[in-house]
Amino acid sequence: QAGLTTDILGTDIRHFMELESTNDYAKTIARDAHEGTVVVAEAQKKGRGRKGFDWVSPQGGVWISIILKPSIVPANASRLTLVGGLAVVDSLKSIGLNPSLKWPNDVLVNGKKICGILTEMEAEIDRVEYIVLGLGINLNFNTDTLPEEIRDGSTTISDELGTYVDRLDFVRSLLYNLEQYYIHFKTQPFEELMERWIDSSDTIGRNVRIVTPSKMVDGRAIGITLSGGLLLQKHDGSTEEIMSGRCIYI
Ligand code: BTN
Repeated sequence: QAGLTTDILGTDIRHFMELESTNDYAKTIARDAHEGTVVVAEAQKKGRGRKGFDWVSPQGGVWISIILKPSIVPANASRLTLVGGLAVVDSLKSIGLNPSLKWPNDVLVNGKKICGILTEMEAEIDRVEYIVLGLGINLNFNTDTLPEEIRDGSTTISDELGTYVDRLDFVRSLLYNLEQYYIHFKTQPFEELMERWIDSSDTIGRNVRIVTPSKMVDGRAIGITLSGGLLLQKHDGSTEEIMSGRCIYI
């Protein structure tokens, strides 16, 4: 379908001119959907970012959610955010960009955000029922069109390259790379993907501040944990695993 080079991802594609949010739509169909079902919209009216933030989703971007049904425990669901980031990095590299990963869910180019990832799940205590992996990639639009608050910290592929990129080609490449990493994720130990993530990351080795609704922790990011968390070495020398939060470089 659509010239895809994948076996699992995109066997069922739900395409829309406009949706409120591809993640929200994916969640309404996920229970009965096949693994690998893809929901894609040309634009989103109410795109969602992490922590309830809006995600501005004009035409020209890639707003896509993938329904996955891996046999994993809920504690390991965050690993899929890292898997998604790795796939985006490879696709960006293949069009000549030099991306880096910022924990937990951003892909940056030249220090600016080009992609955000929102992983949501439905789970029982010991078993994930489904995961919706939502990827928002700023592809063919100008950052001038973005609201002022996010303009400076954001970039788009077309701004970086000075030219538009074929959107379908980019989505094909993304789904291909995602499928490769997803198969690896399901069949191999996670350590290898952690290492790959660290290789492409610009978070590890930095001094960071993690802000959560309940606390703020400063320290040096020294690694990624098996559950996809960030390992922080605090100034008193002790280490702490951070599972979520906003990461600020300091
Ligand atoms: C973030 O960085 O805060 C995550 C942004 C995730 C945006 C994508 S766009 C496709 C999918 N549908 C949504 O409503 N959100 C995600």
